[in-house]
Amino acid sequence: MSKYIIRGGKPLHGSVSISGAKNAAVAIIPAAVITDGICRVENVPDIADVAVYFNILRRLGAEVRDAGGGAFEINSAGVASPVATSGDMQKLRASYYLIGALLARFGRADVAMPGGCNFGAPRQIDLHIKGLSAMGASISVKNGVITATTEDRLHGAYVFLDAPSVGATINIMLAASTASGTTVIENAAREPHVVDLATFLSLMGAEIYGAGTNTIRIHGKDRLHGGAHSIITDQLEAGSFMAAAAATGGRVEINNVIPKHLECISGKLCEMGVSIHETGDSSVVVEGPGRLRCVDVTAAPYPGFPTDMQPQAAVLLCLADGTSAVTDNIFDTRFKYIDELAKMGASIKAAGRTVIIKGVPALTGAPLKAGDLRAGAALVIAGLCARGTTEIEGVRYIERGYENMLGKLRSLGADVTSSDAPARETAAV
Ligand code: UD1
Repeated sequence: MSKYIIRGGKPLHGSVSISGAKNAAVAIIPAAVITDGICRVENVPDIADVAVYFNILRRLGAEVRDAGGGAFEINSAGVASPVATSGDMQKLRASYYLIGALLARFGRADVAMPGGCNFGAPRQIDLHIKGLSAMGASISVKNGVITATTEDRLHGAYVFLDAPSVGATINIMLAASTASGTTVIENAAREPHVVDLATFLSLMGAEIYGAGTNTIRIHGKDRLHGGAHSIITDQLEAGSFMAAAAATGGRVEINNVIPKHLECISGKLCEMGVSIHETGDSSVVVEGPGRLRCVDVTAAPYPGFPTDMQPQAAVLLCLADGTSAVTDNIFDTRFKYIDELAKMGASIKAAGRTVIIKGVPALTGAPLKAGDLRAGAALVIAGLCARGTTEIEGVRYIERGYENMLGKLRSLGADVTSSDAPARETAAV
């Protein structure tokens, strides 16, 4: 089993370039199934979740061609059936976007229940079902497969989401793109990747208004055509490198970012005493202070502080001067990293959906286990600033969503290796 080995205590210095956004990629790739035209997608991150999704599409009958430089061409003309039940479906949360995409193409979808990161409590899909049902889909779940059918074609509907679910917003947008009439999603998610998917669907001929606000209107079209799009850069990878620079007391220029998407993260880091400057249109320079200040952080839907940055923020606050509270208003039990940080000497405990952290002057290296993607990123950051050596198991979670994390950290001066690095090098020869 692969492990990361981190010899901590080295401030990060230099510059790093951010890859395409994972959460946008896993929404845009299934969208290419809606059309039999060819889609070209650029700035695709080289991460495990994307590789799995491409395999799912190939099994469905699509051709996926690596066009080089992070670009891929997807030709879904050969997709003849709406059945996506392969074992790979359970490796991803976002595999459920095939419900919306296959419904839009065939008026039917048979899709295995999704997998993805487990945050403690089950992740519901009732809002997806509510939205698609309002559009005329009959939905049943049997033997781990969700079956959605329509008499003929979905129709437009007014859908109020009880919570601004990213997944439900995306699934409804996909399905509504070829429904008859207009669909209105009220209390829609406003995350950057929702907007990026809307841009891609529009390039495929869909008519979508209001993405990025809490009301999205989709005027359905008879069919969509192929399109070309470059995926936005990853807000959460950028945020994770910002946190790593700050935690180690280093100075890092983070390139290829959309500064607007980082404001919700930068604001909190600045309150902690981190210095952040935009340099040009697509770079920020982040410099850690001598000692971080304690602050309270509340994760909330965009443009609030991202729940996907909550574990990384907690690591910073473990080293801050004073007591902080981190509350997650999206996933109430997303605190799998607490016991691991405690092994490093952190003073941290959960109280309901809040984590109380009393800052300590230093963390110490320890053997750790990553329990999910962002918790894994948080443990890497903790290892980078700890005294001594940290070994992290469960790195498959981290590699689901971060492109070449170790290589990028090494280029910033970190002492990080993977226990299976020699084996991989041999295989590459
Ligand atoms: C997406 C992101 C994930 C991020 C999360 C919140 C992707 C692939 N994943 O996950 O990285 O952490 O947004 O920003 O983009 N809910 C329901 N019923 C539903 C759907 C959701 O009750 O049908 C609840 C969830 O339990 C959760 C909240 O709504 O409490 C938000 O979930 P949602 O925005 O749907 O998250 P995901 O789309 O799963």
